[in-house]
Amino acid sequence: MDAILILDFGSQYTQLIARIVREHRVYCEIFPWNVDYDEFRSRYNIKGIILSGSPYSVNDSEAPIIRLESLIPSVPILGICYGAQMMAYLLGGKIKASEKREYGRARLATFSYDHPLFDGIEPGTQVWMSHSDTIVELPPEARLLSSTESIRVAAYEVPSRRIYGVQFHPEVYHTSQGKTFIHNFLNICQCKRDWTPASFIEDAIQKIRQQTNGKHAVMALSGGVDSSVVAALVTRAIGDRLHSIFVNNGLLRKNEFDSVLNTYHSLGINVKGVDACHEFLSALHGITDPEQKRKIIGRIFYEVFEREAKQLKDVDFLVQGTIYPDVIESVSVAGPSQTIKSHHNVGGLPSRINLKLIEPVRYLFKDEVRKVGKELGLPDGILNRHPFPGPGLAIRIIGEVTKERIELLQEADAIFIDELKKEELYDQVWQAFAVLLPVQTVGVMGDERTYESVIALRAVTSRDGMTADWARLPNEFLARVSTRIVNEIKGINRVVYDITSKPPSTIEWE
Ligand code: XMP
Repeated sequence: MDAILILDFGSQYTQLIARIVREHRVYCEIFPWNVDYDEFRSRYNIKGIILSGSPYSVNDSEAPIIRLESLIPSVPILGICYGAQMMAYLLGGKIKASEKREYGRARLATFSYDHPLFDGIEPGTQVWMSHSDTIVELPPEARLLSSTESIRVAAYEVPSRRIYGVQFHPEVYHTSQGKTFIHNFLNICQCKRDWTPASFIEDAIQKIRQQTNGKHAVMALSGGVDSSVVAALVTRAIGDRLHSIFVNNGLLRKNEFDSVLNTYHSLGINVKGVDACHEFLSALHGITDPEQKRKIIGRIFYEVFEREAKQLKDVDFLVQGTIYPDVIESVSVAGPSQTIKSHHNVGGLPSRINLKLIEPVRYLFKDEVRKVGKELGLPDGILNRHPFPGPGLAIRIIGEVTKERIELLQEADAIFIDELKKEELYDQVWQAFAVLLPVQTVGVMGDERTYESVIALRAVTSRDGMTADWARLPNEFLARVSTRIVNEIKGINRVVYDITSKPPSTIEWE
């Protein structure tokens, strides 16, 4: 299959490049600039290379500078920002810190209309710049393709080597015709556009069958999108030889365990529901520290999973729902970002489970996983559900987790989600949930004074959970949710709405 190789020099936008290439139905993978990609090359027909931006200047002594010989000579190369500067530098051009930094919007004042890279591009099109260096002298063989009002070299080519450089960022949203630029580059590379959810599924099924070779596999299901899609996919490949385990930790949303289990059954997934509520709850007794809660829940989960997995005979493989952003994060040039909270994901089982790994969506982004799920016939209820943390409601109950407090929170959360769905607001927010606070406040109901708990509502908009803003839900809507919660749940007499963004807050309260 045709593919594009993306080499990362530490740009914060590299994932965006990959997403656009794939939106054009061309497969691509990201590699750190200095990592050997022979294995990728042996599996795919590499038709072009894209070099990302970077926080470095090519003139820095420690700048990441690739050797020209390590690039496949016969394929077109697109350098973006630093990538463009580095190629110009390697071929004999000059790069200097510009007197005026150029950040933000710019317009392509002139460009070569008849050049395939500019096919369909409007005169004066808006592009996004983010650089402090600029190409002051092009290499001898290069041809200038475009300028903006502030810089001469906004795009160039080296025709003899099929090298193209753009100073702007076609991969970011604010470059109005960014997708067209990438599309044009893919045309220059003569890529076949045949990477679709259906072709991915077909390919994945074959690989899973080959890899398992008649043996059995086990996996943990969480009810979330990734593990559910993976289970459906692996079931297509090996049927009942996949043994899935869905643990009820007692910290799921109201009725969630039963409803998700039923969905799995209706999809033909061979799943065992394991009720371990009591085990989790007794281990959490008296614990109020969020990190300790996470650790305990992680530990009990592994114990339950291991116990169940050991009862299965002849299992050689462990299936996991790892997705591409997790993989990129751990191999990126910049290294894993700082851990603010120790996330416990069902996927990350400890190495003492001595099984070979199968990770069928390891190279997919979340929205691609959803598309694969849709193609596999998973219901929208699973595909569009909000992210839910591994430790579940335990980190939304501030203070001690008890059966009574879980039930209070489940009821409040169910009302909030129910109303969001009724008003068709559910799909407009990234995540929405209720939090049970450890304070009691005074209220009055009828002629009686009450002294009861407070519920906080949290709803955020976000692209990836890394940054988020509080959702501007209509006042009338919030009023209705508040009235229902206080009227319908005994033990709650006050509702507040969280109006902080991330940063400085986080999405969850613990
Ligand atoms: P924060 O609260 O860090 O959340 O802004 C960002 C996203 O991560 C989820 N989250 C978790 N997911 N285990 C998980 O699997 C965890 O311990 C955990 N903590 C937060 C959170 O729900 C949001 O989507």
